[in-house]
Amino acid sequence: MDFSLSEEQLMIQQASKDFAQTELLPGVIERDDAQTFPDELLRKMGGLGFMGMMVDEKYGGSGLGTLSYVLAMEELSKVDASASVMVSVNNSLVCWGLETYGTEEQKEKYLTKLSTGEIIGAFCLSEPEAGSDATSQKTTAIDKGDHYVVNGTKNWITNGGRAEVFLVIAQTDKDKGHRGINVLIVEKGMEGFEIGPKENKLGIRGSDTHSLLFNDVKVPKENRIGNDGFGFKFAMKTLAGGRIGIAAQALGIAAGAYELSLKYSKERKAFGTEIANHQAIAFKLADMHTKIQAARNLVYQAAIDKDTGNDYTLSGAMAKLYASEVAMETTVEAVQIFGGNGFVKDYHVERLMRDAKITQIYEGTSEIQKIVISRTILKD
Ligand code: CAA
Repeated sequence: MDFSLSEEQLMIQQASKDFAQTELLPGVIERDDAQTFPDELLRKMGGLGFMGMMVDEKYGGSGLGTLSYVLAMEELSKVDASASVMVSVNNSLVCWGLETYGTEEQKEKYLTKLSTGEIIGAFCLSEPEAGSDATSQKTTAIDKGDHYVVNGTKNWITNGGRAEVFLVIAQTDKDKGHRGINVLIVEKGMEGFEIGPKENKLGIRGSDTHSLLFNDVKVPKENRIGNDGFGFKFAMKTLAGGRIGIAAQALGIAAGAYELSLKYSKERKAFGTEIANHQAIAFKLADMHTKIQAARNLVYQAAIDKDTGNDYTLSGAMAKLYASEVAMETTVEAVQIFGGNGFVKDYHVERLMRDAKITQIYEGTSEIQKIVISRTILKD
């Protein structure tokens, strides 16, 4: 497979790298400590086109392909995975579904603001008792003619505290199983809709994660995306693309840890020479480099599949599975290479290690990716 990048893609890669170094790197440790991310910085990202990268320009997006998006995700994630998860959720889980399946009215009302970063969105599938087992939705959306009444709780919702628009998956007809599930656009401030407390997390601490509570929330029928009962398929199709974004995030975290390790190994001395000259360290670097390149090939392949209209469920799942495992392995090794310095915050690698863990969990755990992969290859 030819992964040579176009002029435009190289430019996006460089611009994302520059933005990460000049705007995200300063303060990344403090943001992680304080579990914050300034609105101003997020607005800057919107202004540069990061929040609606794949959305058509007529809806305020950047009109780019998935490969460009993946390149940007990789560069941002090398430095700040909290920033990149906000980008990923807004692009892949919110804008993509709205643009692909939304009505013209829904796109005009929500998509333009979301893709320019004027507002931000959240994707609400997980529940206290429905994480991996996503068809077991307990949140209900009862059909009342011209509106639905939503009741229930959603958990671990990325952007939960700062989003204005929430794509909420809920069960309308339990007897129909996954075919009785809908997806509704819920707006912040709707009566009965409450944002729960912020989670105190191991990693991606700059991004906010909340539970959401729905208590008799009236949602107009025109806020349903797609036909009645389309909600579960909507979630699956959305996540198939979302997983490419998270795979790129994992790749970026791994590559960030590797680049820091390479530089450190050539500077830090032990036993009279730079530690890179010790085979124990050199072999670690060789393993990291090889695995990251293999992960990159899978991630780019999945992005190209999506851009060229091929099925990307399998390639996206493989990319996410492998890149997230490589992110975890690589960041653990990076901390080991840095030794005592790796264990303190100033050197960044401990944060990358903490950030890597979630890539094996959200948007489908590694075990879920293996279900998706094995079912596909066995069916074939
Ligand atoms: N595209 C289209 N349709 C799909 C699909 C896909 N990729 N995957 C499944 N479907 C369809 C199936 O065809 C089936 O429809 P039919 O019966 O009409 O054929 C229907 O969906 C149900 O599929 P399954 O029978 O395969 O369902 P299952 O109960 O066995 O579950 C699963 C499948 C893959 C395990 C799924 O439940 C799953 O992906 N779980 C993980 C959920 C997940 O990723 N959660 C992450 C939360 S979101 C998040 O993390 C966001 C964030 O904030 C960062």
